[in-house]
Amino acid sequence: MIPSILPTYNRAPLSFEKGAGSWLWTTDGRRFLDLGAGIAVNALGHAHPALVETLTEQAGKVWHLSNLFEIPQQTRLADLIVDKTFADTVFFTNSGTESCELAVKMARRYWSDRGAPERSRILTFTGAFHGRSSAAIAAAGSEKMTKGFGPLLPGFTVLPFGDHDTLREAAAAPDIAAILVEPIQGEGGIRVLPDVCLKGLRDLCDETGALLIFDEVQCGVGRTGKLFAHEWAGVAPDIMMIAKGIGGGFPLGAVAATEAAARAMTAGTHGSTYGGNPLGCAIGARVLEIVGDDAFLAEVNRKAGALRQRLEGLVAAHPEVFEEVRGTGLMLGLKCKPPAADLVAAGYAEEVLTVAAADNVVRLLPALNISDEDIAEAAARLDRAAARLETAAA
Ligand SMILES: Cc1ncc(COP(=O)(O)O)c(C=O)c1O
Repeated sequence: MIPSILPTYNRAPLSFEKGAGSWLWTTDGRRFLDLGAGIAVNALGHAHPALVETLTEQAGKVWHLSNLFEIPQQTRLADLIVDKTFADTVFFTNSGTESCELAVKMARRYWSDRGAPERSRILTFTGAFHGRSSAAIAAAGSEKMTKGFGPLLPGFTVLPFGDHDTLREAAAAPDIAAILVEPIQGEGGIRVLPDVCLKGLRDLCDETGALLIFDEVQCGVGRTGKLFAHEWAGVAPDIMMIAKGIGGGFPLGAVAATEAAARAMTAGTHGSTYGGNPLGCAIGARVLEIVGDDAFLAEVNRKAGALRQRLEGLVAAHPEVFEEVRGTGLMLGLKCKPPAADLVAAGYAEEVLTVAAADNVVRLLPALNISDEDIAEAAARLDRAAARLETAAA
């Protein structure tokens, strides 16, 4: 019999009832070190006092207002994003998938508005993940996500990751609206696009006029030690998708864009019932105030260095388990030799939570404010998890 929850997830038999900082407690009283943070969502860990305060304060005032009215919390968060990024304007969503939908619509509308509606094709890359809507699965193109869901939304071409010649050729076609890319592929296995490639993509888009869309749903909001990952490369997109960390655990996403890219999105062209609600935006603004602070980001970088050093030590100590460490800041991956899922399971036994990704990588996406003590504890638990796999293989 089908369970009451649609069985689209293979869930671990762990049930958590309480969280604080980087720790989660199960209903049977065990304490787990959370290095997954809800897949890069709990940017400030669990039950951060400032976010609890903002949530409860706003909950006592007003939760939801239609976008038919002014929402000051929304304006405040939009102003913060505009102030801290390349963007001139922001639309709020509830998830990364919805941000993908709008990014695609905005790029197509941009060309339609310029009298070139045939420029509707979006170029993407293998290993990408942009969400689970019809547009987002067509954008990523992997059979795992698209099988059985055809006909796929047309107008997407998925190019081989890292193949510059094929990209140049594809981008020269007359129907290209935009190039959509994650500066660091998350689900794809923490595959970092080198700065030179991000710069190359910017140049290519400047040459052809195509819009450049960065999907910073997973790598944004301080995760890499800059507020947004593309800042490391010193280039900016025309449109950026945001979600996950921006809400610190509250469902919140956004699309940030330049005025030129967004100009055709006039009244009535897009909307959302919940997107930009006062609760979400009040929390988002608090998250951004904390994470966007230079001193906070400096700490993320320092901690990222400490965690990375310990992970390099683990790779050296367990050559049969680990191949390498990848990633930037606190978006790190351990490329494994045995199945990545086995390391995740061994982690459960050692009461540490990690997240598997493609390319046989285990992701570490801890809270950005993880303590030095918890970083040491993370390494100790992962060391024991790796030892379990060695014992099992012996
Ligand atoms: C890079 C990227 N884009 C988009 C999404 C989709 O976001 P959501 O699950 O909030 O719809 C994700 C989710 O993992 C993601 O990692």
